[in-house]
Amino acid sequence: MKILVTGGNGQLGLALHRQGGGRRLVGLPREVLDITNSAEVAEVFAREQPAVVINCAAWTDVDACQSDPEKAMEVNGSAVSILAHEASNVGARLVQISTDYVFDGTKKEPYAETDLPNPLSVYGKSKLLGESLAGPDALIVRTSWLMGPDAPNMLQTILGLLNGHDDLTFVDDQTGCPTFVDDLAAGLLRLVEARSTGIFHLTNADPASWFAFAQEVAQAGGYDPKRVHAIATSAFSPPRPAPRPVNSVLANQSFVDAGFSPLRSHRLALTETMAL
Ligand SMILES: NC(=O)c1ccc[n+]([C@@H]2O[C@H](COP(=O)([O-])OP(=O)(O)OC[C@H]3O[C@@H](n4cnc5c(N)ncnc54)[C@H](OP(=O)(O)O)[C@@H]3O)[C@@H](O)[C@H]2O)c1
Repeated sequence: MKILVTGGNGQLGLALHRQGGGRRLVGLPREVLDITNSAEVAEVFAREQPAVVINCAAWTDVDACQSDPEKAMEVNGSAVSILAHEASNVGARLVQISTDYVFDGTKKEPYAETDLPNPLSVYGKSKLLGESLAGPDALIVRTSWLMGPDAPNMLQTILGLLNGHDDLTFVDDQTGCPTFVDDLAAGLLRLVEARSTGIFHLTNADPASWFAFAQEVAQAGGYDPKRVHAIATSAFSPPRPAPRPVNSVLANQSFVDAGFSPLRSHRLALTETMAL
C-alpha cells in the first residue's frame, strides 16, 4: 500500500516518515508537489499510483491567514478539492488533516466529532472548507496544538525563550490539547490501516492552557517555572490578528469507539521529546 504524504517537509509530514516503519510512504515537499497546482497533482498521482494520500500540506500561520483570506482559502480550502478529484481518478483514499480551530470555543466541555463547527478565524474557515471538499469517502482527522522536535512550533518557541534571560508570559484563558506529532502520526496510520472514513478527533490526552503548558516545559527542561507568568488574551497589545477559541479541547471518542487506545498524556510525550 503506497501512501503519499503532501507537505512532506512539515512537522507532521516528517513525523509520518519517522513512524512509517516498513510502510511504503512517499513524502512530497512543496517543491515537488504544490497542492494548488492541479496539473502537477494529476501528474504526480498518475505517476505514483498511491493507495492513500495524506494531506499534511497547509498554510498553518494562523495570524498571516487572517490578512490574506484568498491565499488561505486556496491552500487550505479549494486545493483539497483538487486532491479529492485526482485521488478518486487513481482510486486512492484521501486523508485530510484538520484543526480544533473549526470550533468557536464557547462550549464548556470537550468538543465531540458531532458538534457543529463555527470557526472564528480565516484559518479555521479555510480548514473547514477543506473538510467539506475532501469528499464523502475521506478520512478527516482534526487535531490541535501540534509540536515535536522539528521547529517551528510552540514547544521550540518556549524552549528558545527559556534559554534567554527574560521572563515569559503566556495566556491562561485558552485551553487545548498539546499534541506531539509522532504520537499523532502513529494514530493516524492506525486509522488509515483500518480504512476508517468520516471525522475523527485525535490529540494527546490532558488539556492545558498555554500558560500551564509553558510551565510544564520549564519544569521538564530544568528551568524555573516561576519565570512563566499568566496573561489574559485581552491584555495582548496589540491584539493578535486572528481570534482563537478559548476552549478547543477535542474529545477523542470516535477513535476509542473504533477500538483504539487513546493517545497518551502530552506530558509523557513532552518528557520523551525533551530527552531526544
Ligand atoms: N500546527 C498546528 O498547531 C496544527 C494544529 C491543528 C491542525 N493542524 C493541521 O495539521 C496539518 C499539519 O500541520 P503541520 O504543523 O505539520 O504544518 P507545517 O509544519 O506548517 O507543515 C505544512 C507544510 O505544508 C507545506 N505547504 C504549504 N503550502 C503548500 C502547497 N501549496 N503545496 C504543498 N505544500 C504546501 C509547507 O511548506 P512550506 O514550509 O514551504 O510553506 C509545510 O511544509 C495541517 O493540515 C494543519 O492545518 C496543525
